[in-house]
Amino acid sequence: MNRFWDKIIKPILLKEQPKSIVEIGADYGFNTVRILEYCKWLHAKVYVVDPLPKFDVNAFQNLFGEHLEMVRLLSHDALPKIPEYDVVLIDGDHNWYTVYFELKAIEERSKTTGKFPIVFFHDVDWPYGRRDMYYDPKQIPAEYLKPYALKGMIPGQSELSVEGGINNNLYNAEYENGPKNGVLTAIEDFLQDSSLDLSFQKVVSENGLGVLYENDPEKDKYIRYVITSSGM
Ligand SMILES: C[S@@+](CC[C@H](N)C(=O)[O-])C[C@H]1O[C@@H](n2cnc3c(N)ncnc32)[C@H](O)[C@@H]1O
Repeated sequence: MNRFWDKIIKPILLKEQPKSIVEIGADYGFNTVRILEYCKWLHAKVYVVDPLPKFDVNAFQNLFGEHLEMVRLLSHDALPKIPEYDVVLIDGDHNWYTVYFELKAIEERSKTTGKFPIVFFHDVDWPYGRRDMYYDPKQIPAEYLKPYALKGMIPGQSELSVEGGINNNLYNAEYENGPKNGVLTAIEDFLQDSSLDLSFQKVVSENGLGVLYENDPEKDKYIRYVITSSGM
């Protein structure tokens, strides 16, 4: 996600000036620190949702104080606890079940706030646009869990690689495509099921970035302009 910060995410935040941001999936905090710098500068707050952050949370808390609230929960447990947010960055567990129900929770919150936030998604292209990955398969209900293995992936090949391939240290679904498989499929299914008037834009480089937002001609024009001029 952090590779999109300068060219796409930051210009959109500077235009929209959100006061409350949710980051799902922080890992080493490479993107978190950028969001926090924005928050400090523009008097905003970020809720960082990650059950296992790999950065020094106390050090970040000392540096950024009230601009940071660390939520050490899975996204499905965290989202209903966060009262309001204008932007969500989704880069947590890259599978259909997690992303579809994150969007359902965001939609549910929008019924009380009256606005649907701008949602950024990482990994809407290969390898996880059309293939599930599970950080912890035990967290996924059996009906949504695809057969999976600790094996890597090769572009253009549905079956996992016997040797090598990318992300061979992660639990990847054994096949690509098909129903309820992958991040992009989850977004498309959510859009089909939702009655909200939303727009979705997709960038294909760096494993893919998606941007989902309320349909508004001015916002649409600006987001399309930022994406086109990013050259990504
Ligand atoms: C790909 S990394 C995030 C990378 C980060 N956004 C960046 O740009 O550097 C995914 C992170 O999501 C966290 N994670 C996994 N499942 C999650 C879930 N269900 N809810 C929230 N975070 C989750 C993992 O602990 C991991 O730190």
